[in-house]
Formats: sequence, structure tokens, C-alpha cells
Amino acid sequence: MTPAVDLYPELDTPLALIDLDTVDRNAAAMRALARERGVDVRVHFKSLKCGGLAKYLMAAGFDTFLCAKLNEAEVLVDAGVKDVLVANQVVGPVKARRLAALAARATVSVCVDDAENVDELAAAAAEVGSTIGVLVEVDVGQRRCGVDPGEPAVALARHILKHAPALRFFGLQGYAGHIQMLPDLAERTAQCRAGLQLLVDTRRALEAAGIPVAVVTGAGTGTADAAAGFSGLTEIQPGSFVLMDAAYHAACPTYGCALSILTTVVSRRDERYVLDAGSKAISKDFGTPVIKGYPTDRVIAVNEEHTIVAPGAGAVVQVGNRREVLPAHCCATMNLHRSCVAVRGGKVEAVWAIEASGRYD
Ligand SMILES: Cc1ncc(COP(=O)(O)O)c(C=O)c1O
Repeated sequence: MTPAVDLYPELDTPLALIDLDTVDRNAAAMRALARERGVDVRVHFKSLKCGGLAKYLMAAGFDTFLCAKLNEAEVLVDAGVKDVLVANQVVGPVKARRLAALAARATVSVCVDDAENVDELAAAAAEVGSTIGVLVEVDVGQRRCGVDPGEPAVALARHILKHAPALRFFGLQGYAGHIQMLPDLAERTAQCRAGLQLLVDTRRALEAAGIPVAVVTGAGTGTADAAAGFSGLTEIQPGSFVLMDAAYHAACPTYGCALSILTTVVSRRDERYVLDAGSKAISKDFGTPVIKGYPTDRVIAVNEEHTIVAPGAGAVVQVGNRREVLPAHCCATMNLHRSCVAVRGGKVEAVWAIEASGRYD
């Protein structure tokens, strides 16, 4: 008997699918929020890693992007993005030269929190003959990178200004990653605004010292609503809202899950069925995935090559059936796939390379 293939029979599995109607809805919701509140949106590419998706978003009106790593910035510039922020520290002579070379091709900026690193970037830019934009990263509570708010940021900005024209001081970044998914929305909002107040107070201290600040950027998907319109913040920088995942959607239901992993049922017993994709295709660093469209089916284990699911009462499941799995973490799942298939209304619209997947440089 032929196994019962019920979704995308022309495609092999496992496979990353991107539902473009959901991407469109998510993009429209974020654009509307930003327009209503008068703030710029810069899209975080670490969640996407795919040049085709960046081009799709550019066509939808998003023209500035940020990223976590230099390789992602290179993919963005190759895709035609004209304004890219590496929202991270770029340290060491090899990377400084790569950053400076990229800055000759587009408006490229980077975060800094260390004077010697500033000197290293300035030397690389002077050697290449480019100008690197610089944002001082301010620690607004995450205790990761960033100088303390206030005077330490002013001192570092003064140091950057000494390096003109190789460096151009753009402004400040303060990102509070630790609060993006706080389940209590009131608590998330209060913590977000307390961090933004530190950032905006730092902006005022710079201006009082005679240093103009063009950009004050921060916030992600989970705090976009709390941050958009906060006086003194010029830009929000969400990324997960484009694709979303099961864990983020639970904390932030405005944005739908556009990324799924198409899988095939390869084994069926009374109390379980088994899918042909495991942790090598579905990241489990943020928790357990869910089965799209089958709310009573429960994932009980994600092994390397298999996901084991307890079907809901009365479920009819056969070997060969297809299931879409919604990962718990979109960014880490995109990092596991070399390509993705963009679909709309059950039909394939495009196949895109995920150029920055599996890269950490
Ligand atoms: C610096 C920075 N900005 C923005 C974001 C975007 O956050 P989200 O994925 O919550 O939209 C991240 C995510 O890690 C980040 O590191």
C-alpha cells in the first residue's frame, strides 16, 4: 500500500518551510506599530540568516537591518542592503579588516564598549579608506556587553570622536535580552522602560556634553510594544517577529509562527507516532516544539533524528503522513538548515539559500 502523503507531496522532508502569508501579517503588524508610534524599525537578521528573506522584507519596506555576526552582515550587503548594524563587538585584526572592507560597500555600523577596540577598528578603517559607524553599547540590565550608563558612555563617545573620519559616532544601543520573553507583560513592560530610561538619560548626558546623538536603538519582538514611542528612543530592533516560534508566540501572540519544519511520519504505534526530524533539524534550546494544527498531539521527545509524538484522542495518523513542526526557537532552527522553501496557500513560491546558517564568525 502507498503511504498517505498529505502535505506538499512534491517536497522531500525534513525541510524548513516559511509561510509567506504569515510573514506578511507579522511584517504589517510591526510596520503599523512603528508608524503609529513614530519610531524606526531595524530588522534583526540573526533570526533569519537568509538573503532571500532579507530581499523579501526589503520589498515589503524594511530597508535597515542589524545582525549579530560579521558573516551575517556580509550576506546582507551581498543581498543589497545598504545600511547594516553589527549589533555586537567585533574584535581582532582579521575581523576589523573584514568590517572595514564591508564599510566600503554600504553604511556599516558596529557596537563598541572598549577604547582599545575602538582604536583597532579606527586603524582598520583608516587602512582600507572606509568609514565605520559606531554605537556605544550601554548595559541596560542584561549584564552582557556594554558600558555602564552615563559618564562611561560619554567618555567612550569622546574617544570615538577623536578618530574621525575613520569612525563616525552614530549613537547608543541598549538591548535587554533577558526580559524579551518574561511571561508577565506588565513586568516586561516596566523592566523594558526602566532600561530605556537609562539609555535615554545617557543620550541626554551626551547632548549636555555637546555630542549629537543621531540613533538610540534597542528592544526586540517581546518589548517592541513597550518601547515604540518611548521618548528619546529613535529605533527598535526586533527580529523574531518575522518568523516567530512556539515559545516566543506564547509570550507575544501578536505575531504568528511562519517557520515550520515539514516532516514525515515514519513509524506509528498505538500510543505514539514518530517524525523523521529531530534535534539536528529542530532546535530544542528554548524547549519542546509543537505540532502545527494538532493542538492535542503532544511532543514527548526530540531525539537526534526523530521526534516522538503522543497523538490526541481519536487522531488518525498513518506512516507517510506529513506534519509541520513549529520549533521552540526560530533563530537556532534557521541556523540548522542550508535552505528553506517559501510557501503561500499550500503552494511553493521560492526556494532560498540560508547563507549564514552554520556560521559563527
Ligand atoms: C542586540 C539585539 N537586538 C535585538 C534582538 C532581537 O530580539 P528578538 O529576537 O526578540 O526580536 C536581539 C536578539 O537576540 C539582540 O541580541
